[in-house]
Amino acid sequence: MKPTQVMETEHRLIETVVKALCGVADAIEKGQPADAAMLATAVEFLRLYADKLHHGKEERLFFPMLVTRGVPPQGCPIGGLNHEHEKGRALVRALAEQARAYAQGTPGAKGGLVETLRGIVDLYQNHIWKEDAMVFPMADKVLTEADQTELTEKFGEVDRAVGLDVVARLETFAKSLGTSGQAPLPSAAAKN
Ligand SMILES: [Fe+2]
Ligand SMILES: [Fe+2]
Repeated sequence: MKPTQVMETEHRLIETVVKALCGVADAIEKGQPADAAMLATAVEFLRLYADKLHHGKEERLFFPMLVTRGVPPQGCPIGGLNHEHEKGRALVRALAEQARAYAQGTPGAKGGLVETLRGIVDLYQNHIWKEDAMVFPMADKVLTEADQTELTEKFGEVDRAVGLDVVARLETFAKSLGTSGQAPLPSAAAKN
């Protein structure tokens, strides 16, 4: 697979989780309980799979390779995308805290949780769209075949550094959320 195909495949799984989080926000707003265990695993997915694994590949390997082919490291698109990765990290930190507070039944936890979930959905959907529609097609043109082979090999090293078992478990979690855009029915429903 080309490096952009690897990243597109990862985008589809990240999108599945993000759509499920949109479903969680909708459910909470309708007064339904959210699945606290699912939220905790979603936080883990966003930290390890979306950030450490996927953003790690982009920031440490893919963007620097684009820079060697003449794409500016600051400004549009790389500077803007790196900035969005930072915003994503801050939102996921907030989500982790708010999901914990929600699970513990902390009064008023719902409002902040819904706001953060909406922020994550907006940021990730827009970010992924930009990369898929604009950055990856450009990369396919400017990167040589040798660049692409090197990136694909190094992407494999990132997968192994995160842990192939961890990657497989988180991919299974994302796939279990399905393509309906809805989170599964709450099992151990947190009352809040
Ligand atoms: Fe990105
Ligand atoms: Fe990406």
